[in-house]
Amino acid sequence: MLRSVFLAAARSSRMERLISTAPVTKGIVTRFVAGTGVDDALRVTSTLAGDGLAITLDYLGEDTLTAEQATATKDQYLTLLKELKGAGLTPAAEVSLKLSAMGQKIDDRMAYEHARAICAAAVEAGTTVTLDMEDHTTTDSTLEILAELRKDYPSTGAVLQAYLRRTEGDCRELSAAGSRVRLCKGAYAEPESVAYQSALDVDKAYVRCLNILMSGEGYPMIASHDPRIIAIAEDRARWFDRRPDEFEFQMLYGIRPEEQARLAAAGHTVRVYVPYGDEWYGYLMRRIAERPANLAFFGKALTSK
Ligand code: FDA
Repeated sequence: MLRSVFLAAARSSRMERLISTAPVTKGIVTRFVAGTGVDDALRVTSTLAGDGLAITLDYLGEDTLTAEQATATKDQYLTLLKELKGAGLTPAAEVSLKLSAMGQKIDDRMAYEHARAICAAAVEAGTTVTLDMEDHTTTDSTLEILAELRKDYPSTGAVLQAYLRRTEGDCRELSAAGSRVRLCKGAYAEPESVAYQSALDVDKAYVRCLNILMSGEGYPMIASHDPRIIAIAEDRARWFDRRPDEFEFQMLYGIRPEEQARLAAAGHTVRVYVPYGDEWYGYLMRRIAERPANLAFFGKALTSK
């Protein structure tokens, strides 16, 4: 019910105008999104880097439906990488991209070619790329594209979602040396046939996946704001003798910044996921709609310091 309300709001241009101009909105947007342009992205990246944090930048442009849009999004990433290098913000900053923004829903090959061009530009800029993971109908295609990209760009990172029943197997596949895996709980509304439904089951699955990645040979990226998950990850890092440069924590821009600072001060690598771009409205609405718990998630962030 709540989900369909927010999905409908995400598609409504009338609602967009209303929400975009409401006095409270600017505060919400600037708390979670760097801004609309590359200059905003660079400004926020520079501040975070100055605070000792690593960054991954996401140009907002998912659900691309035309080849022109996909090419324009790819070009935005090329510009961003050039600017990051020019500003001396690499390797502190890397980029995250959604294959759907690269045209995955139109043609897998197009998405691969665009992602490949971005990987090449990232190498040129001295940094890396991580492929975001979207709904479960795209998982196979995304992992296939990842495997292709890693042949020439082995540092390309993947995202695995603990709520998917298949993910323990994917973690085993991707826990080899050189592999970079961001482990998150998962943000989409998925059917019971493919995903655990209760928060407890998802948390237990997260810890099973975490154990596989932390005991493996790859580079785990622990993406969660959950204090219990973070404490377990810190424990596993000690147990498996992982140095600070052998794994990292990741959190979204604007969520639990005090915890980001605490972890960084404790010597951990902490990477902040920073979205920017004109399509912030859809990003915020979809994040809330994808999983009703995200409503509380954003709400809590708004009222917390
Ligand atoms: P969850 O939302 O389950 O909350 C658990 C607990 O954490 C809460 O009870 C509270 O204690 C604490 N908490 C959470 N939010 C808080 C807040 N605002 N203030 C204070 N405490 C708070 N998803 C996906 O499907 N594909 C992807 O590619 C990505 N990429 C990604 C990158 C990064 C860097 C992050 C951090 C997340 C993603 N996600 C994602 C989203 C992810 O799947 C998930 O939906 C959110 O991170 C929420 O799950 P959490 O593990 O943070 O805890």
